[in-house]
Amino acid sequence: MSTPGLDRSAAHALDIDWVRSQFPSLQTQVNGQPAAFLDGPAGTQVPTQVMHAIQNYLMGANANTCGAFLTSRRTDELLNTARAAMADFFHCQRDEVVFGQNMTTITFSVSRAIGREWNAGDEIVLTTLDHDANFSPWKALEEKGAVIRQVDIREDDCTLNLDDLKSKLNGKTKLVAVGYASNAVGAINPVAEITRLAHAVGALVYIDAVHFAPHGLIDVKALDCDFLVCSPYKFFGPHLGTLYGKRQHLQGFRPYKVRPCTDQAPERWETGTQVHELIAGIGAAVEYIAELGRHSDPSVVTRREALAAAYRTTVAYERRLVSRLIEGLQSISGVRIYGITDPRRFAERCSTLSLRIGNHNPTTIAAFLGERGIFTWDGNYYALNLTERLGVEAQGGMLRIGLVHYNTLDEVERLLTALREFAIR
Ligand SMILES: Cc1ncc(COP(=O)(O)O)c(C=O)c1O
Repeated sequence: MSTPGLDRSAAHALDIDWVRSQFPSLQTQVNGQPAAFLDGPAGTQVPTQVMHAIQNYLMGANANTCGAFLTSRRTDELLNTARAAMADFFHCQRDEVVFGQNMTTITFSVSRAIGREWNAGDEIVLTTLDHDANFSPWKALEEKGAVIRQVDIREDDCTLNLDDLKSKLNGKTKLVAVGYASNAVGAINPVAEITRLAHAVGALVYIDAVHFAPHGLIDVKALDCDFLVCSPYKFFGPHLGTLYGKRQHLQGFRPYKVRPCTDQAPERWETGTQVHELIAGIGAAVEYIAELGRHSDPSVVTRREALAAAYRTTVAYERRLVSRLIEGLQSISGVRIYGITDPRRFAERCSTLSLRIGNHNPTTIAAFLGERGIFTWDGNYYALNLTERLGVEAQGGMLRIGLVHYNTLDEVERLLTALREFAIR
């Protein structure tokens, strides 16, 4: 499987020193050791330019929108600029970008708005692999008579069972809600193919790209999905969410809104006053990724090309990290890795994985690592259907290691050394 936009040319090498110099928080120390931030799937660190953009907004543009004075006009401009940046990020038009509090809140509001158009007996296809934020908002529509069809995984490699998905599509299917990549096991779903299958039966497709966004270039045009949602705090920006919606849907479906608010998309979906200072940070986060692309490949011209160049570089780099991680973990006794481990299939995964060590509670392992300055996550990370399906929910779930492009091979080696130490205690 190839990621749209990533197959143009060989990747340029990542300049890891340049990358790390952009993120001041990477200098954090724990008990005299440098912190290793392997917790990216729960939120990434933030480069300096994002912090500056937030501060600059508050210093020189802080106001509400659409007023007849300087700071309000600056705020309008800033929202436009950030929307244009996200349009390049998604590969869509500016008026197809919606800002919101986070992915979960956006998804609840979209599910409520879409669900009001449906009838009892209409079907929604959901998956066992998804984060609960792309499950519960749709499942809530059962109250209105919607029927939920849940797609299973293949247990051996924790990937989505496409045959099962196909068997659940029919003329009553109204929507397929599916993740682009699993926040627990790193599997990348074939979302272009899923979109094609869903459209063939007349269903809409809602893609949760929260986990994918820091790991690959998103191209909603190539995917042809109806909606796609992600959270800038997972791709080096502030704590917010953003939605892509096809123009016809953002204009056609009816969001719950107050009367004085405009009925024009995309603003009609943005209830109340937005967190303008953080939206300033979204624009800067996209600019950071573009800057990384320009740094890797000075021949790029447009911002979209720069974003593609950045991901060409980071995908290759992250693959090296996860290859070494998996190889190292396989030599530690008692480690069980959940997800794809065959290097020939690494294009089907990103650099996130979950593991267990014997019967040890993942919280104990995370605390052991945490004392050594290695930040990982334990539990179900809201991929509740998956931990239940794998039978590990009652045993504390799994330990998650999330590598992004600011992590290093040295950090992977430190993690492996610490896990070896833990395993032989
Ligand atoms: C895959 C995935 N989807 C959805 C969410 C929810 O995102 P938010 O925190 O923006 O609501 C997360 C958060 O961890 C996630 O990893």
